[in-house]
Parts: sequence; C-alpha cells; structure tokens
Amino acid sequence: MSVEILKISHCRNIESAQLTLKSGLNIITGANASGKTTLLEAFNLLGTGRSFRTSRLNHVIQAEQSTLTIFAQLRLASGLNQKLGFQYKEGKRQLRLDGNPIHSGAELAQLLPIQLINQQSFDLIDQGPSQRRKFLDWGVFHVEQSFYPVWQRYMRAMKQRNAALRQSIKQTQHWEKEMAASAATLHGYRHAYVESLQPLFTASVSEMLGCDDITMQYRAGWDAEIPLNELLATNRDKDRELGYSRYGPQRADLVFKRDGAPARERLSRGQQKLLVSALVLGQAQLLTNSTGKPGTVLIDDISAELDSNHCAKLMKVLLATGSQLVVTAISPERLPDVSNENPAMFHVEHGEVKEVV
Ligand SMILES: Nc1ncnc2c1ncn2[C@@H]1O[C@H](COP(=O)(O)OP(=O)(O)OP(=O)(O)O)[C@@H](O)[C@H]1O
Ligand SMILES: [Mg+2]
Repeated sequence: MSVEILKISHCRNIESAQLTLKSGLNIITGANASGKTTLLEAFNLLGTGRSFRTSRLNHVIQAEQSTLTIFAQLRLASGLNQKLGFQYKEGKRQLRLDGNPIHSGAELAQLLPIQLINQQSFDLIDQGPSQRRKFLDWGVFHVEQSFYPVWQRYMRAMKQRNAALRQSIKQTQHWEKEMAASAATLHGYRHAYVESLQPLFTASVSEMLGCDDITMQYRAGWDAEIPLNELLATNRDKDRELGYSRYGPQRADLVFKRDGAPARERLSRGQQKLLVSALVLGQAQLLTNSTGKPGTVLIDDISAELDSNHCAKLMKVLLATGSQLVVTAISPERLPDVSNENPAMFHVEHGEVKEVV
C-alpha cells in the first residue's frame, strides 16, 4: 500500500496542495516554517485520524478557515486504487474509504500503516514505558490479527478487576482468571514479535552505529513463568490499597542497554536517533515481510542531529525497508546522494508545494 496522490486543503499554513508521490523515495525540502512538517501531518491525519503534534484538531485547520480536508489515492499491492478521505469540520472528524465511513481506528491503521521518525521519537528511549508499549503493540497489531481483540479483552478484564477489588472477592477472582487467560496470549504474541524484530534491529544498529554492544530486552510486566492469576491473588491486598493492578501486560516494557547501562545514558543524541530509527525501520521491514504490504514511513528533518556519514547510513537502511518513504530536509545539500533512487522531489515555500523536476 502506498499513497499515490495526496491532496490537502486548509491544513495549517497550506491552503491547497497536490502531490503525486512515488511508492519508493519522496523528498520534501523547504526553509524553516515553510510547511514541511505540515505535509507529514497531513499523511498522519489520513493514516491515524490524529495529529502527531496536538490533540486539538481545531489548531490544525488553517487560521480563519472552517474545514480541513485531506484526500489520498492509495495504490494497493494488487495494483488497484482506493480513495481515502479525511475531513475535520465544526469539531467533527470524518474518514471515508471509497465513499463509505470508517468507524474504527483499527480499520484505518490496517489500511494505511504510517510510521514516523521525528523529534518526539526520542521519547521511545527518554521517557517511560508507555511509549515503548505503544511502539511494540503497533508492530504486533499489524502482524498478528488476533492481537487486538485479545488486548481489548485483557484491558476490559483488568478494569473490571480494579473495580471489583473493593467490592467482591468472588468477582475479583473471576476477573483475575480472565486476565490470566488473555495475558498469556498477549505475552506470547509480544514475545514472538520481539524475537523476530531482534535480528533486524541488531543488523541496523550495527550498520548505522557500528557497535554490537546495544541490547533490546522485552519485559512481560510480570514473571511470565507464573500464571498471572496466582500473582494477582498473592498481591490482592496491596492492589486493593493502591486501587489498581500492579502486574500484568499493562506493565510490559522494552529495555535498551549499552554495555549493561541504560542506552539513554550511554548514547549521544545522534546515536539515539539512529537507535530509534533502527527500531522503527526494523518494524517497517517486519511489516513488509509478514504481510507483503509495505507501509509508509515519514521522516521529519532527516539530517537533524546527524553528520553526513551517519545520515547516508540511515538513508541506506530506510531504502532497504521497501516502504514508501517521505523524507523532509531543510535543503537538498543536507541529504546524501540519492540520485540512483530516482526520488520524487518537492519544494515548499510559504505553504506552496512545487514538484522539482
Ligand atoms: N492553524 C494554522 N494556520 C495557519 N498557519 C499555521 C497554523 N498552524 C501553524 N501554522 C504555521 O505553519 C507554518 C509551517 O509550519 P511547519 O511546522 O510545517 O514548518 P516546517 O517547514 O516544518 O519548519 P521547520 O523547518 O522549522 O520545522 C509555521 O509558520 C506555522 O506558524
Ligand atoms: Mg518542521
């Protein structure tokens, strides 16, 4: 799946734009505040229904306008086309595929898998585990069809247990059993996913960072050798005091270390960017390998934090994923030589997008 045509109307500083994209490499250049991130935002709105910068979509509509519209012609792996439309108007969001409403975020995510590498991606190693769980589950969701219903079932059971803790022992025990059943399945999916991501991650890290002492370790959120209901029963009194369940897949994490110490302490900013990129691109590759349907990877300001040598290495790994790539940079001089890839090139100036030929 790739985006063949993207049309934008009234998105931040872009009044109107139309881009014809390649299924391989697309490059967008422009000065600060020209509208590069805004273009990537338009992709993200289409693929997720959400902005990656703000939870308030009324700030994404161009000032003094009332309707934000994004339209894409998608090219399927089969060669057929589909039309995907996003509109935000009067506080309401609407997504349509070939004219029919899309109601679920899961349906949309499956349709147009979008991955993003930008300044916020550093949160993956800088911040707490929730970003990493989100990252992990994005990957599992796309390769394991049953993941989402099991995850929903687990979350529901956990909420019910948290509510039952103060009320009824019998109900609490019932929900603990329900949690344990789906926790084991979730753990199995996540564990298998990390196992298949591991070699891709290690190869990209070695290629881009030139070191082999960075490790990624998956933590289940409890000692997965023990059935979760047993652990929950042992910890019931403490959980009742706290009002929530301390153990289970909701506490899973990915831990990155270099030479035994936390990666964020031992890596420079540029190295952290490459580590995060290795993760995202490993995921992109797995998506292509397991579904045969490559997604779209957005990279905002690719050369930020990187010297020309490391930027070239990142570009090489990006190209190897087989994904559609949409890359922004302030100027073409900051990019590695990609003339062999025959990229589509665009230049943005004050919100106006022109194809460079
Ligand atoms: N709702 C809006 N209406 C009109 N313009 C907006 C709106 N929101 C943001 N802008 C403007 O859009 C411009 C483009 O922002 P954008 O983040 O896309 O720039 P950029 O090309 O990515 O710049 P940089 O290289 O600095 O990251 C900014 O000048 C911003 O002030
Ligand atoms: Mg920007």
